[in-house]
Amino acid sequence: LIRCMGDSHRPSRDYEQPEIQPEQEHKGALQISAPGREVSINQLVQPPLWAPKIIYSLAKEIYHYVGEDIVIYETIDSYGAIMWPAALALCSFLENNREIVNLQGAQVLELGAGTGLVSIVASLLGASVTATDLPVVLSNLRANVLRNTRGRCRELPKVDVLSWSFDLKRSHPTGVHQYDYILAADVVYQHDFLEELLATMKHFCGPGTAVIWANKVRLGSDLTFTENFKKAFHTSLLFEDGDMKIFKGTCRRS
Ligand SMILES: C[S@@+](CC[C@H](N)C(=O)[O-])C[C@H]1O[C@@H](n2cnc3c(N)ncnc32)[C@H](O)[C@@H]1O
Repeated sequence: LIRCMGDSHRPSRDYEQPEIQPEQEHKGALQISAPGREVSINQLVQPPLWAPKIIYSLAKEIYHYVGEDIVIYETIDSYGAIMWPAALALCSFLENNREIVNLQGAQVLELGAGTGLVSIVASLLGASVTATDLPVVLSNLRANVLRNTRGRCRELPKVDVLSWSFDLKRSHPTGVHQYDYILAADVVYQHDFLEELLATMKHFCGPGTAVIWANKVRLGSDLTFTENFKKAFHTSLLFEDGDMKIFKGTCRRS
């Protein structure tokens, strides 16, 4: 067993760790374990020549929010297809602070939705949600979202491609989509699209919109983004626990 990626923002949950079956062993499957995480990864051991190429394997986790079991599949083919700690912090915050972020009947857009947990919890809390991410993440995101919301929510969430960009006016004209909340969890880390991310947040933040951004601070660039976020939005800190922070930003134009 290899230990990796622990974090302290995990709710209680059950694990259904798939056992390695004899036929999996020839593919070189390993179990990777971390506090609160069980992931099965193929390809870490060189497979025999006759073995089929396995792109990724799936790990299934069950979370408990809003009185529901939420079954999430993760994949290891993208950053976005695994659960990041700020998603858990944000779900817990949304569930326990409904008077501060009232999602009942709210129009919600999630940026960088990843596995979809935040969008699922927002839907269970009564919001009309659009979960967005890059194309590579979308099929896993869609499957997670639909599996956990069908028959449980007032409105089935939408799942769409949205690539952060300076130029969203053509694809998403201002005023056509009016959101009460933009949700974003752990979208700030080491990548080349931080300015595009801020531009995207600003694009969708109209009068009456609140950007709820949860982030585990890891790098100096995270602090730079935070400063730029504060310049772009009227900002308040909703939650802080060590390096886990949840900010609320509202439009400076309003
Ligand atoms: C660190 S993951 C966080 C995923 C999820 N919010 C969570 O907390 O578990 C960052 C997410 O942002 C998405 N992302 C990264 N760059 C992006 C871009 N340029 N446009 C849109 N989404 C992007 C990734 O695909 C990924 O789902």
